[in-house]
Amino acid sequence: MGDKEYDDIAGAYKDSKQLSFRKYIEEYTLFRLLGDIRGKSVLDLACGEGFYTRKIKQAGARSILGVDISSEMIALARKQEEKRPIGCNFLVHDVSNLALDEKKDVVSAAYLLNYAKTASELLQFCEVAFDSLTSGGIFVGFNDNIAANPNFAPSFRKYGFEKSASKVQKEGDVIRYTITNGNGTAFSINNFYLKPETYSWAFKTAGFSNFSWEGPFLNPNQKENSFWDTFMEYAPLIGFKATKK
Ligand SMILES: C[S@@+](CC[C@H](N)C(=O)[O-])C[C@H]1O[C@@H](n2cnc3c(N)ncnc32)[C@H](O)[C@@H]1O
Repeated sequence: MGDKEYDDIAGAYKDSKQLSFRKYIEEYTLFRLLGDIRGKSVLDLACGEGFYTRKIKQAGARSILGVDISSEMIALARKQEEKRPIGCNFLVHDVSNLALDEKKDVVSAAYLLNYAKTASELLQFCEVAFDSLTSGGIFVGFNDNIAANPNFAPSFRKYGFEKSASKVQKEGDVIRYTITNGNGTAFSINNFYLKPETYSWAFKTAGFSNFSWEGPFLNPNQKENSFWDTFMEYAPLIGFKATKK
């Protein structure tokens, strides 16, 4: 499961983290869901080049391990850690069969779950998150909003991306993002559609008792800025949260 498509687009993806929606919505939502992580041990699933791995460590996490299937993304992550060591650890591994010796207080996953093509793949991701957590630990993340079919929304071009999908979506259908960076470089990535009921089922079956979609939340310092109205009304992306009771 989980191909290595990011090996070819690692640099372009890293650059795309400079788009303003990342900061004002993606990062703001993720950190609001993470809460106070000072002193916590954290696992960052599908960490990519470590954008959030580093930010979570800088926000005071006691320890952090970032895991990604793409060796190129992890190479970029390690390069940044070598250049400016802050104590992030990285591992090249498929999340679907990850088994750690040590349990974590928090599991974070920005854009992992939307790579599941089937209910059983989604369940595997959720089970790995559940098994990696201490009792009382939280699983939070940011994801494609499967409930927001782009055929019924305006273009998101002004935010630096386009989202496309079939009008009537069925399990495993592709949701395609074409991202255009500030320097004009464009690249595409494929996410996969699974029904909202499938997400609820996977979290529950993995053992989580209270899965919820959250946000997206806009940084309050942007609340007077109408530029964000389309994003907030049609929410192409969304956060989530679940607890291991
Ligand atoms: C959109 S990127 C997000 C990276 C990072 N979380 C961020 O927000 O910048 C998605 C990442 O998921 C990784 N990925 C996809 N399937 C995976 C799997 N089964 N196991 C581990 N990583 C996976 C990709 O290699 C890619 O780096």
